[in-house]
Amino acid sequence: MTPTLVNAPAHVAIIMDGNGRWAKQRGLPRAAGHKAGTDNLRRVIEAAVELGIRILTIYAFSTENWQRPADEVNGLMSIFEEVIDRELGELHRNGVRLRHIGRLDRLSPAFADKVRAAIALTRDNTRLTLNIAFNYGGRAEIVEAVRSIVAAGLPPEQITDDTVAAHLYTAGQPDPDLIIRTSGEMRVSNFLIWQGAYSEYFITPTYWPDFDKEQLRLALEEYSRRHRRFGGL
Ligand code: FPP
Repeated sequence: MTPTLVNAPAHVAIIMDGNGRWAKQRGLPRAAGHKAGTDNLRRVIEAAVELGIRILTIYAFSTENWQRPADEVNGLMSIFEEVIDRELGELHRNGVRLRHIGRLDRLSPAFADKVRAAIALTRDNTRLTLNIAFNYGGRAEIVEAVRSIVAAGLPPEQITDDTVAAHLYTAGQPDPDLIIRTSGEMRVSNFLIWQGAYSEYFITPTYWPDFDKEQLRLALEEYSRRHRRFGGL
């Protein structure tokens, strides 16, 4: 039985990095790393529910990831589509609400339809909200928000932080309390750049396929010891 943490974060976001290096270390193709990363995601979702996390946001594919070789991009698309086909039923039975943050426009129409259907199916679930950042970029998100605010004709003096937040993909959701990045890179990589303004960061050298429940628990423990000041004292 995992003891309940004092001061547990409600919203945890993860930059799942290091699949490629995990594979290389084992002399395997990068695709094997993505497969292992996908298997790990399942375990981490289960662990998140057990640890009392209410919202989990994962960075699955960025607007910059299109620059990878076509083989790898196509491989990732197939993996994501297969995951929906294979896991949706169980996610739904376990009370997971799926949301997408990012744009669906570069996905194949069949894949985009699957994503929409998964969101519709799970919309009333309440145990865990799983935001999948897919074809997501933080700057693109802010640009889109600005465009829709301008298009709505709002007078400049009425535009506040709340106005911007209400036009982001994450509208209506609380900001992440904790952002975890695996594989040791010390950068934000265009992820939740508005929403993460006051998030705590936890960076571990562990590659994503090896980031297990124990490591998630350690990240939450460290978070619970931090004193968040939001710019105050
Ligand atoms: C980082 O490894 C991971 C990605 C680019 C995203 C792919 C994530 C998965 C396959 C996990 C499963 C997610 C879903 C939604 C099914 P990298 O390729 O950047 O690794 P490297 O930096 O070591 O090369």
